[in-house]
Amino acid sequence: MKAECLAAVPVRWMIRDDVAAVLSIEGASFDRPWGAAELLSALRTEGVVGVVAESGGCVAGFMVYAPRGRAIDVLRLAVAPGARRRGVGRQLLGRLAARLAPAGRTRIALGVPERLLTAQLFLRACGFRAIAIERGEGGETREDVYVFERAWTPDPRLSAVGGGLGMDDPS
Ligand SMILES: CC(C)(COP(=O)(O)OP(=O)(O)OC[C@H]1O[C@@H](n2cnc3c(N)ncnc32)[C@H](O)[C@@H]1OP(=O)(O)O)[C@@H](O)C(=O)NCCC(=O)NCCS
Repeated sequence: MKAECLAAVPVRWMIRDDVAAVLSIEGASFDRPWGAAELLSALRTEGVVGVVAESGGCVAGFMVYAPRGRAIDVLRLAVAPGARRRGVGRQLLGRLAARLAPAGRTRIALGVPERLLTAQLFLRACGFRAIAIERGEGGETREDVYVFERAWTPDPRLSAVGGGLGMDDPS
């Protein structure tokens, strides 16, 4: 049975104290998870932003993203196994959707290795489309990567949970 959706989860900037929890989610989510050095290096890169979604005082999911022209590229997105299918991933993407228009951006893009079927189903449910295949770009395994993109138009599928986007943005 599917777990009940969480009401709007606060989404806030990732801070140093979150690193251990984020790395734990990484380890539970990817075959080749980022280590601390990769995560911190990504976050030190100009323009790159890390956010976490909190539930019950714990980090339930996180996302790392960066602007690219009129798009925002999602570099990493994962939800803790115990918090999946409860709307956390959808709300993290909702955060980005809310930020696109005011910043003059029109789309969100991310690449998903072909093996990650769950991620593809998730993206499709959030209104994304596969627009390209990057042959052999999947790192060491050289698997194909599907590039997913979603153009911005207000869409209730990205803000259905709890009636809002779950923003808690200090900026
Ligand atoms: C992909 C991932 C981020 C989804 O996060 P999530 O919080 O569980 O997703 P949501 O609860 O917001 O799901 C939204 C919709 O996506 C679809 N979906 C999500 N997980 C699914 C699954 N395992 N099987 C089928 N559909 C799924 C469903 O349509 C779901 O809506 P529903 O639950 O009302 O049916 C999470 O499974 C994860 O961290 N996976 C490992 C890391 C990864 O693959 N990252 C790449 C992300 S693009």
